[in-house]
Amino acid sequence: MADALVVRNLSKRFGGLRAVQDISFTVRENETVALLGPNGAGKTTSFNLITGFQTPDSGSVVAFGREIARLRPHVVCSHGVARTFQVAKPFGAMTVLSNVMTGAFLHHKGMAAAREKAMEAIDFVGLGPRQSMPARDLTTIDQRRLEMARALATEPRLLLLDEVMAGLNPSEIDQAVALVRKLASKGLTIVIVEHVMRAIMAVADRMVVLDHGQKIAEGSPKEVVANADVIRAYLGSEHVAESAPGVAS
Ligand SMILES: Nc1ncnc2c1ncn2[C@@H]1O[C@H](COP(=O)(O)OP(=O)(O)OP(=O)(O)O)[C@@H](O)[C@H]1O
Ligand SMILES: [Mg+2]
Repeated sequence: MADALVVRNLSKRFGGLRAVQDISFTVRENETVALLGPNGAGKTTSFNLITGFQTPDSGSVVAFGREIARLRPHVVCSHGVARTFQVAKPFGAMTVLSNVMTGAFLHHKGMAAAREKAMEAIDFVGLGPRQSMPARDLTTIDQRRLEMARALATEPRLLLLDEVMAGLNPSEIDQAVALVRKLASKGLTIVIVEHVMRAIMAVADRMVVLDHGQKIAEGSPKEVVANADVIRAYLGSEHVAESAPGVAS
């Protein structure tokens, strides 16, 4: 399988703080890779560096064979890389459809074509019945669906999801997991940042773990959750006890 994303020696400082330090990882086409780590580990900053919202101090980001680090966000997006934001920023007074059309305009300049592409994305995430609702009136899970639809409307091949399940209840998390799986089965390559381990275990083919801006582990979900450094830095011994085979939860 070809590489969708190759991150090499990526670094970013904010004053004296090394938010991302020499991080490298590769995501193959059609893979779902989880980017994990405690608060402040550098996950969102990594997304910002990959998608052009921030400029790396050093390192490279190659998506589908093309260098994209230091390009403007809309240019990165036009190369097939889309993202959601940890803190969603919809145009609150605008309808769901209008919000998603802002994504669709990237490739479709005409209203009718943009509307059609937007509706496709809205239906895909299950927001069809709420297409005419102002974005600010959506529930939390529907706001996350809107974020995903807006990203999908740009017709990405690689989708970066930043904590789309935060604040959801258990049954909503199940719905979000199903949606992520549906995106993967559509052929999308996904990098997902998420703290809900149950959800991550259900969607990730591989995991990359950051701590204090550095990569501390990488591997299959099974390998990573058993990794002593990951347990110490992020999961804690509680999680290991909970997820041990044969232990009823
Ligand atoms: N624009 C900025 N200016 C200064 N410091 C920043 C900036 N953005 C992030 N940081 C700092 O960089 C570090 C990494 O932040 P980042 O948002 O990437 O973490 P994260 O892994 O996404 O955490 P969380 O799980 O809480 O979302 C943190 O210490 C944060 O305070
Ligand atoms: Mg973050």
